Amino acid sequence: MTLDNHVNNHGVMSRTLALITGASSGIGAAYARLLADDHDLVLVARRVDRLSDLADELRTAGAAVEVLSADLGTPEGLGAVTKRLAAGDVRLLISNAGVGGYAPLADVDPDEINRLLGLNAVAPVQLARAALPGMLAAGHGTVVTVASLLAFSAGQDNPHLPSRTLYAAAKAATVAFTRTLAHELAGTGVRAQVVCPGLVATEFNGGAARNIPFAMAPEDVARAGLAGLRLGETVCVPGLEDRAAALEALLAAETALLAGGNRPTPAARYGRTQSN
Ligand SMILES: NC(=O)c1ccc[n+]([C@@H]2O[C@H](COP(=O)([O-])OP(=O)(O)OC[C@H]3O[C@@H](n4cnc5c(N)ncnc54)[C@H](OP(=O)(O)O)[C@@H]3O)[C@@H](O)[C@H]2O)c1
Repeated sequence: MTLDNHVNNHGVMSRTLALITGASSGIGAAYARLLADDHDLVLVARRVDRLSDLADELRTAGAAVEVLSADLGTPEGLGAVTKRLAAGDVRLLISNAGVGGYAPLADVDPDEINRLLGLNAVAPVQLARAALPGMLAAGHGTVVTVASLLAFSAGQDNPHLPSRTLYAAAKAATVAFTRTLAHELAGTGVRAQVVCPGLVATEFNGGAARNIPFAMAPEDVARAGLAGLRLGETVCVPGLEDRAAALEALLAAETALLAGGNRPTPAARYGRTQSN
């Protein structure tokens, strides 16, 4: 699964170091298995037993594998991973760890709000910030963040969708972060990509999607994300056929809001202004 590997001074293909969060199951473990052929890996999650088993499996594929146990919903856990990234040797960061925490906002424990938004939205930003100096100095690198199609669900009044204020807000933030970062990084050799899956058959949300026939397999999400990188996609939607049309329509709507709303006077429906 060659992505960004480089030929060293002896003409030998060197293995790129990838750090994957949420590697103990689902999409993160699938990324790790796909990358192990030609990447060394740092595997991050809380369940160290799972990470150790996966590390043993991947070492047989020739990968050097570090296990880093960290709770990314806590400052200590986040600090341990940003410290590892600050070493500057990671060239592929896959920020994939996340939880749903689906509930109406009034039912959410206030103490959980920072933890959920921290894990799903703030951690990927902190991890990217920690990884970027090393990538920029090397002139190449890739920051992947796994968001969700629910990032685009804020306008949907659909009773079949979960109660998701925090999750949709966090994943929408991740999409905006990555699209903006990709522009900021243009010309540096460092790329950013956000992957937006629909339902995926993993342990997520108590494994609920495993009983849903149209859920995608985690291996297919990871494979699509890596293929999307080779295609140069900043926004990868694994299940979407007509990606270009959808993203063009999104950009057109954003342009209408941004350009149309940025005027010195309120719109006519809000009445006359003081200066009229
Ligand atoms: N499954 C879906 O339907 C779906 C759809 C769209 C997007 N996604 C996104 O895909 C990503 C991966 O989810 P998945 O479907 O593969 O679910 P999963 O099998 O439940 O995997 C989630 C991973 O995140 C890790 N994680 C959770 N909380 C963590 C914490 N506090 N600190 C560190 N790691 C933590 C888990 O490891 P530990 O428990 O060992 O810490 C696990 O490795 C998530 O960001 C999710 O939002 C999933």
